[in-house]
Amino acid sequence: MSEEDGHTDGGIEARLDEQDVFEPPASFVEQANVTDEGIYEEFEENWPDAWERAAELIEWEEPWDRILDDSNEPFYEWFVDGKLNASYNCVDRHLDERAEEVAIEWVGEPGESRTYTYEELHREVTEFAAALYELGVGEDDVVAMYMPMIPELPIAMLACARIGAPHAVVFAGFSPDALADRMNAGDSSYLVTCDGYYRRGDPLNHIEKARSGVEKVDQDVTSVVVDRLGDERAVDLGPDEHDYDTLVQEQAGATVEPVTRDAEDMLFLMYTSGTTGEPKGVKHTTGGYLAYAAWTSHAVLDLKPEDTYWCSADIGWITGHSYIVYGPLALGTTTLMYEGTPDYPDNDRFWEICDEYDVDVFYTAPTAIRAFMKWGPEYPAAHDLSSLRLLGSVGEPINPRAWLWYYEHIGGEECPIVDTWWQTETGGMMITTLPGINDMKPGSAGPPLPGIGADVVDPSGDPVGADRAGHLVVNRPWPGMLRTLYRNDERFLEEYWREYSKSERDQWVYFPEDGAKIDADGYITVLGRVDDVINVSGHRLGTMEIESAIVGVPGVAEAAVVGGDHELKGEAVYVYLITEDGQEETDAFRDEIVAAVDEGIGPIARPEEVIFTPELPKTRSGKIMRRLLEDIASGKELGDTSTLRNPEIVGEIAEQIGGADE
Ligand code: WTA
Repeated sequence: MSEEDGHTDGGIEARLDEQDVFEPPASFVEQANVTDEGIYEEFEENWPDAWERAAELIEWEEPWDRILDDSNEPFYEWFVDGKLNASYNCVDRHLDERAEEVAIEWVGEPGESRTYTYEELHREVTEFAAALYELGVGEDDVVAMYMPMIPELPIAMLACARIGAPHAVVFAGFSPDALADRMNAGDSSYLVTCDGYYRRGDPLNHIEKARSGVEKVDQDVTSVVVDRLGDERAVDLGPDEHDYDTLVQEQAGATVEPVTRDAEDMLFLMYTSGTTGEPKGVKHTTGGYLAYAAWTSHAVLDLKPEDTYWCSADIGWITGHSYIVYGPLALGTTTLMYEGTPDYPDNDRFWEICDEYDVDVFYTAPTAIRAFMKWGPEYPAAHDLSSLRLLGSVGEPINPRAWLWYYEHIGGEECPIVDTWWQTETGGMMITTLPGINDMKPGSAGPPLPGIGADVVDPSGDPVGADRAGHLVVNRPWPGMLRTLYRNDERFLEEYWREYSKSERDQWVYFPEDGAKIDADGYITVLGRVDDVINVSGHRLGTMEIESAIVGVPGVAEAAVVGGDHELKGEAVYVYLITEDGQEETDAFRDEIVAAVDEGIGPIARPEEVIFTPELPKTRSGKIMRRLLEDIASGKELGDTSTLRNPEIVGEIAEQIGGADE
C-alpha cells in the first residue's frame, strides 16, 4: 500500500519510535486557562479547601459552610449547606452579558440546523419548566428522558433542573425493555421522548419503542412527545401523551423562578452497567457535580465563553451530560450538538461541521478516531480545520498510533490532545494532562488532576511501583463523585468501596474496576476494566495492552483481544481482527500480528489464535461484547445475543473458530 491511500503511513510509526513525549504547542500555552504548574502543589497543600476554585466558577445563592463533610465515610458531602440552581447557572446567569450569544448550535443529520441563543434557551427552558409543573411534576420527582440528539433533550434536562426534578436520561439506542427497567428502578411517572430521528438518511420510528417501553412500566406514565420528524411521520397521541410544542406554546411568556436546591440535592440519575445484569442508578448532586463539570471544562477542555465547542458523544451517556450540557453551558460557551453519524452523507461529515462552524475544541472517542483512520486522511484534509485549538479523547484507552493520527491529521500538530480518564461514577474527568502545562505521552492519560488522589495497587492494596500493572484506585474524595447508587447504599458500598475498605487500610479507597500502570513521572496508563484482565500461565495481561500492540500493525483496522479457556495455561489470548480495506487475510499476516504482540508485550502474550472477522459483536452503544468473544473462544454455550447491534456476526465468528479446530 502506498502512503497516499492513507491506510499505512510509515511516518507515524517512525515518529512514535523516536519521540514518545510531546510538548504542548506554545501557541496553545499562551492562551490557556490554566498554565501555572504550581496548581498541583496548591491543591496538595490546601486540600480540600483548594476545591473552592471549582465552586467559584459557578454562582451560589448561599455560600457553603464547609467544603467537605467526611464524618460519614464514604458517604461524603461537598460544599455543605450551599444553595444553588443548576439551570440558573447554565442559563439565567449568562443573560446579562451573553443573551444574544449562541448557547446551543444544533446540526440535524439531513442538513438543517437550529441555533439557540442564551436568551432563546432561557425562554424555552422556562416555558417547558412551566409545562412540567402543569403536568404535575414536583420537586424530586424523577423524570425519564428517552431522546436522541435533538435540542429538546438538553432543554428538558435544564427545565427539570430548574424545578428540582432529577432527570434520568436513557440512551435512545437502548431497547424498550431497558427503558422500562430504568423507569421502574427510578420510579419515574414522567417521560420525555420524541416521534423519531434520522440515522444515515432514514427516519427511525422512536415513539413505538418508547410506547412499548412504557407498557412495561409499573406505574402510570405521562409522556411528552417532541415532533422531530414533522410531516415525515404523523403520530396520533394517546390520552397520556402530550405534544411538546403545544405544551410550550401554552406557556408562552411564562416565568418560573429556579428553585433553591441544596448542594447535596440530586441533580440527576444516570444508569450504567455493572458486574450484575441490573443497571446501577448513579446519583449525582447539584453543587459538587456542577462545580466539578465546570472546573474540568475550564481547566482541561480550556473552554472560554467565546468558544464553539463540540463533543461528539451522545447526551444519553455521562460524557454528554457533563461535557455537552452542564460543563460548557455553566461556562457560557457555545455547545454544538450533531444528530447523526460521522459517515453520513459521507466520511467527512465531522470535518465539514468543524469547518463550517469554526469549532475551537473537539472531544471524541478513540473508537471514532480509529474509524477516521480507516477511512483515510483525505477526508479531514479536504476541510479547513485551522480553527481547532484543542482535541480530547474519552471512553477507552487510545492507542499511540491513533493518538498520533489524531494529532497530525486533525490537529495539524498544533493542538494538544487531552486523553481524559473518568467514569459515569466520577461525574467528570479525573486523570488527564492539563493541556497548558503537561507534556503528552501518547497512550497514557497523564497524571491525576490537581486535588485528585489516584494510584495503582496490587490486590492487597499496596502500590505496585513504576510500570507494573495493577488496580487503579482513587484514594481521596472529589466533588464530582457519585454519592450513592439510587436507593441502594449497600450496593454502592459493595461495588466501589468494600474491596479496600477502611477497616483494612485505614483509608477509604474508591475502586473503579480498571487496570492501570503508572510510570516514573506519575503518568497513568489505563489498561481497561479489570474484568478484561486475563491470566495466562499465572501472568496477568491487559487485553487492551495487547490490542494496542496489534492495532499498531499497518493493515489492522480494529482488534479485540479476550481470554479463552486453555487446558495448560488457564487462559490463552484470542485475537479477533478486522483488517483495513486492501489488507489480505493471510497466514503471513497472522504471523505479523503474533510478532507484534511478541514485540510489544512479550511471548507470554502470544495469541493462541488470530481470527479474521468483518465486524466485532457490539452492544447498541458500541461497546465490544468481550464476554461473548470469550465464550466463543472457550467454545462455551453462547448466552443472550439479543442486545447486540449485529447478532448475526456471532455465528460467523464461531464457525471460523470451529473450522480452525478441524
Ligand atoms: C473507560 C465514560 C482509558 C474505563 C466517561 C472506565 C477509559 C470506563 C478512558 C468508564 C480513557 C474512560 N482511557 N479508559 N481516557 N475513559 N475509560 O462510565 O474503563 O461510560 O472505567 O464513562 O471507560 O465508562 P463510562
